[in-house]
Amino acid sequence: MTHDSTAIVTGGGSGIGQAIAVELATQGHDIVIADIDEAAMEKTQDLVESKGQTARAIHTELGNEDSVESTVETVIEEFGSIEILVNNAGIAGPTTPCEEVSTDEWDLTVDVNLTGPFTMCRSILPQMKDAGYGRIVNIASVTGKRPLVNRTPYATTKMGLIGFTRTLAAEVGEHDINVNAVCPGSVDGPRIKQVFEKQAEASGRTYEEVRSEVETESPRNELVKRENVAELVAFLCSDRAGQITGQDINISAGKVMY
Ligand SMILES: NC(=O)c1ccc[n+]([C@@H]2O[C@H](COP(=O)([O-])OP(=O)(O)OC[C@H]3O[C@@H](n4cnc5c(N)ncnc54)[C@H](O)[C@@H]3O)[C@@H](O)[C@H]2O)c1
Repeated sequence: MTHDSTAIVTGGGSGIGQAIAVELATQGHDIVIADIDEAAMEKTQDLVESKGQTARAIHTELGNEDSVESTVETVIEEFGSIEILVNNAGIAGPTTPCEEVSTDEWDLTVDVNLTGPFTMCRSILPQMKDAGYGRIVNIASVTGKRPLVNRTPYATTKMGLIGFTRTLAAEVGEHDINVNAVCPGSVDGPRIKQVFEKQAEASGRTYEEVRSEVETESPRNELVKRENVAELVAFLCSDRAGQITGQDINISAGKVMY
Protein backbone atom coordinates (compact mmCIF):
# COMPACT_ATOMS: atom_id res chain seq x y z
CA MET A 1 0.00 0.00 0.00
CA THR A 2 2.93 2.36 -0.60
CA HIS A 3 1.61 3.57 -3.98
CA ASP A 4 -1.62 4.91 -5.46
CA SER A 5 -3.19 5.62 -2.11
CA THR A 6 -4.82 8.77 -0.85
CA ALA A 7 -3.63 10.84 2.10
CA ILE A 8 -5.47 13.68 3.82
CA VAL A 9 -3.14 16.21 5.45
CA THR A 10 -4.91 18.74 7.66
CA GLY A 11 -3.20 22.13 7.80
CA GLY A 12 -1.32 21.03 4.68
CA GLY A 13 -1.21 24.58 3.35
CA SER A 14 1.92 25.66 5.18
CA GLY A 15 4.72 24.83 7.59
CA ILE A 16 5.11 21.21 8.69
CA GLY A 17 1.87 20.18 6.94
CA GLN A 18 3.14 21.38 3.59
CA ALA A 19 6.41 19.46 4.05
CA ILE A 20 4.38 16.33 4.96
CA ALA A 21 2.16 16.72 1.87
CA VAL A 22 5.20 17.03 -0.40
CA GLU A 23 7.04 14.09 1.20
CA LEU A 24 3.98 11.81 0.97
CA ALA A 25 3.59 12.84 -2.69
CA THR A 26 7.25 11.96 -3.24
CA GLN A 27 6.46 8.51 -1.81
CA GLY A 28 3.69 8.07 -4.42
CA HIS A 29 0.53 9.08 -2.57
CA ASP A 30 -2.21 11.37 -3.87
CA ILE A 31 -2.79 14.25 -1.49
CA VAL A 32 -5.85 16.03 -0.14
CA ILE A 33 -4.95 19.30 1.54
CA ALA A 34 -7.54 20.21 4.20
CA ASP A 35 -6.95 23.75 5.38
CA ILE A 36 -8.66 27.13 5.84
CA ASP A 37 -6.05 29.16 3.92
CA GLU A 38 -6.92 29.05 0.20
CA ALA A 39 -3.73 30.73 -1.07
CA ALA A 40 -1.51 28.46 1.01
CA MET A 41 -3.39 25.37 -0.21
CA GLU A 42 -2.81 26.44 -3.82
CA LYS A 43 0.93 26.60 -3.23
CA THR A 44 1.01 23.11 -1.71
CA GLN A 45 -1.16 21.82 -4.54
CA ASP A 46 1.45 23.03 -7.07
CA LEU A 47 4.27 21.41 -5.08
CA VAL A 48 2.43 18.08 -4.89
CA GLU A 49 1.58 18.14 -8.60
CA SER A 50 5.23 18.85 -9.41
CA LYS A 51 5.94 15.42 -7.86
CA GLY A 52 3.55 13.82 -10.39
CA GLN A 53 0.73 13.11 -7.91
CA THR A 54 -2.88 14.26 -7.82
CA ALA A 55 -3.52 17.10 -5.40
CA ARG A 56 -6.92 18.32 -4.22
CA ALA A 57 -7.44 21.29 -1.91
CA ILE A 58 -10.63 21.27 0.16
CA HIS A 59 -11.55 24.11 2.47
CA THR A 60 -11.90 22.38 5.85
CA GLU A 61 -12.38 24.04 9.19
CA LEU A 62 -11.10 21.85 11.98
CA GLY A 63 -13.36 22.31 14.97
CA ASN A 64 -16.42 22.53 12.73
CA GLU A 65 -18.01 19.08 12.62
CA ASP A 66 -20.07 19.69 9.46
CA SER A 67 -17.03 20.96 7.57
CA VAL A 68 -14.94 17.92 8.54
CA GLU A 69 -17.70 15.44 7.65
CA SER A 70 -18.33 17.11 4.30
CA THR A 71 -14.60 16.95 3.41
CA VAL A 72 -14.39 13.24 4.22
CA GLU A 73 -17.54 12.52 2.17
CA THR A 74 -16.12 14.45 -0.81
CA VAL A 75 -12.78 12.62 -0.66
CA ILE A 76 -14.38 9.18 -0.50
CA GLU A 77 -16.67 10.14 -3.40
CA GLU A 78 -13.81 11.44 -5.55
CA PHE A 79 -10.94 9.12 -4.60
CA GLY A 80 -12.83 5.99 -3.51
CA SER A 81 -10.90 5.50 -0.29
CA ILE A 82 -8.59 7.15 2.23
CA GLU A 83 -5.53 5.18 3.32
CA ILE A 84 -3.65 7.86 5.25
CA LEU A 85 -4.78 10.62 7.61
CA VAL A 86 -2.29 13.10 9.04
CA ASN A 87 -3.90 15.26 11.72
CA ASN A 88 -1.38 18.08 11.51
CA ALA A 89 -3.36 21.34 11.78
CA GLY A 90 -2.96 23.00 15.13
CA ILE A 91 -2.93 26.43 16.72
CA ALA A 92 -0.64 27.77 19.42
CA GLY A 93 -3.42 29.14 21.61
CA PRO A 94 -2.76 31.96 24.08
CA THR A 95 0.56 32.55 25.86
CA THR A 96 -0.64 33.73 29.23
CA PRO A 97 -0.97 32.54 32.84
CA CYS A 98 -3.83 30.09 33.35
CA GLU A 99 -5.99 32.51 35.35
CA GLU A 100 -5.95 34.95 32.39
CA VAL A 101 -7.01 32.44 29.71
CA SER A 102 -10.52 33.21 28.48
CA THR A 103 -13.05 30.43 27.95
CA ASP A 104 -13.20 31.38 24.26
CA GLU A 105 -9.41 30.98 23.89
CA TRP A 106 -9.54 27.64 25.72
CA ASP A 107 -12.45 26.36 23.61
CA LEU A 108 -10.87 27.38 20.30
CA THR A 109 -7.57 25.64 21.13
CA VAL A 110 -9.40 22.46 22.16
CA ASP A 111 -11.72 22.61 19.13
CA VAL A 112 -8.91 22.85 16.57
CA ASN A 113 -6.17 20.76 18.24
CA LEU A 114 -8.21 17.98 19.83
CA THR A 115 -11.80 17.88 18.62
CA GLY A 116 -10.52 18.39 15.04
CA PRO A 117 -8.45 15.15 14.99
CA PHE A 118 -11.27 13.30 16.82
CA THR A 119 -13.95 14.27 14.28
CA MET A 120 -11.58 13.53 11.38
CA CYS A 121 -10.91 10.04 12.75
CA ARG A 122 -14.58 9.42 13.55
CA SER A 123 -15.57 10.27 9.97
CA ILE A 124 -12.82 8.23 8.29
CA LEU A 125 -12.69 5.13 10.50
CA PRO A 126 -15.78 3.32 9.10
CA GLN A 127 -14.23 3.35 5.61
CA MET A 128 -10.76 2.34 6.91
CA LYS A 129 -12.32 -0.52 8.90
CA ASP A 130 -14.24 -1.73 5.83
CA ALA A 131 -11.04 -1.63 3.78
CA GLY A 132 -9.05 -3.32 6.56
CA TYR A 133 -6.23 -0.80 6.26
CA GLY A 134 -5.30 2.64 7.57
CA ARG A 135 -2.40 4.76 8.76
CA ILE A 136 -3.15 7.70 11.07
CA VAL A 137 -0.49 10.09 12.34
CA ASN A 138 -1.32 12.81 14.85
CA ILE A 139 1.11 15.72 15.08
CA ALA A 140 1.42 16.38 18.80
CA SER A 141 4.48 18.13 20.27
CA VAL A 142 7.16 17.67 22.90
CA THR A 143 4.72 19.89 24.81
CA GLY A 144 2.56 16.75 24.89
CA LYS A 145 5.28 15.25 27.10
CA ARG A 146 6.48 18.04 29.36
CA PRO A 147 5.04 21.32 30.68
CA LEU A 148 5.31 24.64 28.85
CA VAL A 149 4.69 27.52 31.23
CA ASN A 150 1.91 29.94 30.23
CA ARG A 151 0.59 27.57 27.53
CA THR A 152 -2.00 25.52 29.46
CA PRO A 153 -4.53 25.20 26.59
CA TYR A 154 -1.89 24.11 24.04
CA ALA A 155 -0.14 21.66 26.42
CA THR A 156 -3.47 20.16 27.47
CA THR A 157 -4.51 19.51 23.87
CA LYS A 158 -1.17 17.96 22.91
CA MET A 159 -1.14 15.72 26.00
CA GLY A 160 -4.75 14.80 25.19
CA LEU A 161 -3.78 13.97 21.61
CA ILE A 162 -1.25 11.43 22.88
CA GLY A 163 -3.94 9.82 25.06
CA PHE A 164 -6.29 9.75 22.07
CA THR A 165 -3.54 8.17 19.93
CA ARG A 166 -2.87 5.34 22.39
CA THR A 167 -6.53 4.54 23.00
CA LEU A 168 -7.50 4.61 19.33
CA ALA A 169 -4.48 2.46 18.42
CA ALA A 170 -5.67 -0.14 20.94
CA GLU A 171 -9.20 -0.01 19.49
CA VAL A 172 -8.43 -0.38 15.79
CA GLY A 173 -5.22 -2.43 15.56
CA GLU A 174 -7.09 -5.59 14.57
CA HIS A 175 -8.21 -3.82 11.36
CA ASP A 176 -4.59 -3.13 10.31
CA ILE A 177 -5.10 0.51 11.22
CA ASN A 178 -2.05 2.00 12.92
CA VAL A 179 -2.27 5.21 14.94
CA ASN A 180 0.83 7.08 16.07
CA ALA A 181 1.76 10.52 17.34
CA VAL A 182 4.80 12.52 16.29
CA CYS A 183 6.15 15.03 18.79
CA PRO A 184 8.34 17.73 17.26
CA GLY A 185 10.49 20.14 19.24
CA SER A 186 10.86 23.74 17.99
CA VAL A 187 10.78 23.56 14.21
CA ASP A 188 12.83 26.04 12.19
CA GLY A 189 10.89 28.33 9.85
CA PRO A 190 8.93 31.58 9.64
CA ARG A 191 6.56 30.72 12.50
CA ILE A 192 9.33 30.11 15.04
CA LYS A 193 11.19 33.21 13.77
CA GLN A 194 8.16 35.34 14.66
CA VAL A 195 7.96 33.71 18.11
CA PHE A 196 11.66 34.44 18.76
CA GLU A 197 11.29 38.02 17.54
CA LYS A 198 8.39 38.60 19.94
CA GLN A 199 10.28 36.99 22.84
CA ALA A 200 13.35 39.12 22.05
CA GLU A 201 11.28 42.31 21.98
CA ALA A 202 9.52 41.43 25.25
CA SER A 203 12.73 40.57 27.09
CA GLY A 204 15.08 43.23 25.68
CA ARG A 205 17.34 40.61 24.10
CA THR A 206 18.35 40.12 20.47
CA TYR A 207 16.75 37.60 18.11
CA GLU A 208 20.09 35.72 17.97
CA GLU A 209 20.26 35.47 21.79
CA VAL A 210 16.76 34.01 22.04
CA ARG A 211 17.34 31.58 19.17
CA SER A 212 20.67 30.44 20.60
CA GLU A 213 19.08 29.83 24.03
CA VAL A 214 16.43 27.56 22.48
CA GLU A 215 19.02 25.77 20.35
CA THR A 216 21.14 24.94 23.39
CA GLU A 217 18.15 23.12 24.95
CA SER A 218 18.98 20.40 22.40
CA PRO A 219 22.11 18.26 22.85
CA ARG A 220 22.61 18.68 19.10
CA ASN A 221 22.39 22.46 19.57
CA GLU A 222 19.89 22.91 16.75
CA LEU A 223 16.24 23.40 15.84
CA VAL A 224 14.24 20.68 14.09
CA LYS A 225 13.94 20.70 10.30
CA ARG A 226 10.38 20.35 9.01
CA GLU A 227 11.58 18.06 6.19
CA ASN A 228 12.84 15.61 8.83
CA VAL A 229 9.45 15.66 10.57
CA ALA A 230 7.86 14.92 7.19
CA GLU A 231 10.21 11.99 6.56
CA LEU A 232 9.33 10.48 9.95
CA VAL A 233 5.61 10.82 9.19
CA ALA A 234 6.06 9.22 5.76
CA PHE A 235 7.95 6.32 7.35
CA LEU A 236 5.11 5.76 9.83
CA CYS A 237 2.69 5.68 6.88
CA SER A 238 4.75 3.07 5.03
CA ASP A 239 4.61 -0.71 5.19
CA ARG A 240 8.04 -0.72 6.85
CA ALA A 241 6.38 0.71 9.98
CA GLY A 242 3.62 -1.93 10.00
CA GLN A 243 4.34 -2.99 13.59
CA ILE A 244 4.63 0.50 15.06
CA THR A 245 1.37 1.67 16.59
CA GLY A 246 0.23 3.58 19.67
CA GLN A 247 3.59 5.35 19.92
CA ASP A 248 4.47 9.00 20.54
CA ILE A 249 7.78 9.55 18.80
CA ASN A 250 9.88 12.62 19.57
CA ILE A 251 11.72 14.48 16.85
CA SER A 252 13.32 17.20 18.92
CA ALA A 253 17.08 16.93 18.25
CA GLY A 254 17.23 15.29 21.67
CA LYS A 255 15.56 18.11 23.61
CA VAL A 256 13.06 15.68 25.18
CA MET A 257 14.10 12.07 25.74
CA TYR A 258 10.96 10.37 27.05
N1 LIG B 1 6.32 24.76 14.50
C1 LIG B 1 6.73 24.14 15.62
O1 LIG B 1 7.79 24.47 16.18
C2 LIG B 1 5.93 22.99 16.18
C3 LIG B 1 6.48 22.24 17.22
C4 LIG B 1 5.75 21.16 17.74
C5 LIG B 1 4.50 20.85 17.22
N2 LIG B 1 3.98 21.61 16.21
C6 LIG B 1 2.66 21.24 15.68
O2 LIG B 1 2.77 20.97 14.31
C7 LIG B 1 1.55 21.30 13.64
C8 LIG B 1 1.83 22.24 12.48
O3 LIG B 1 2.49 23.39 12.99
P1 LIG B 1 3.15 24.50 12.02
O4 LIG B 1 4.21 25.16 12.82
O5 LIG B 1 3.48 23.92 10.70
O6 LIG B 1 1.91 25.51 11.91
P2 LIG B 1 1.57 26.62 10.82
O7 LIG B 1 0.87 27.70 11.57
O8 LIG B 1 2.78 26.97 10.01
O9 LIG B 1 0.53 25.86 9.87
C9 LIG B 1 -0.70 25.42 10.39
C10 LIG B 1 -1.65 25.22 9.22
O10 LIG B 1 -2.91 24.83 9.80
C11 LIG B 1 -3.94 25.61 9.22
N3 LIG B 1 -5.03 25.77 10.17
C12 LIG B 1 -5.07 26.54 11.29
N4 LIG B 1 -6.27 26.45 11.89
C13 LIG B 1 -7.00 25.59 11.14
C14 LIG B 1 -8.33 25.10 11.23
N5 LIG B 1 -9.17 25.48 12.20
N6 LIG B 1 -8.76 24.22 10.29
C15 LIG B 1 -7.94 23.84 9.28
N7 LIG B 1 -6.68 24.28 9.13
C16 LIG B 1 -6.21 25.15 10.04
C17 LIG B 1 -3.31 26.95 8.88
O11 LIG B 1 -4.03 27.63 7.88
C18 LIG B 1 -1.91 26.50 8.43
O12 LIG B 1 -1.87 26.24 7.04
C19 LIG B 1 0.64 21.91 14.72
O13 LIG B 1 -0.23 20.92 15.23
C20 LIG B 1 1.64 22.34 15.80
O14 LIG B 1 1.05 22.38 17.08
C21 LIG B 1 4.67 22.67 15.68
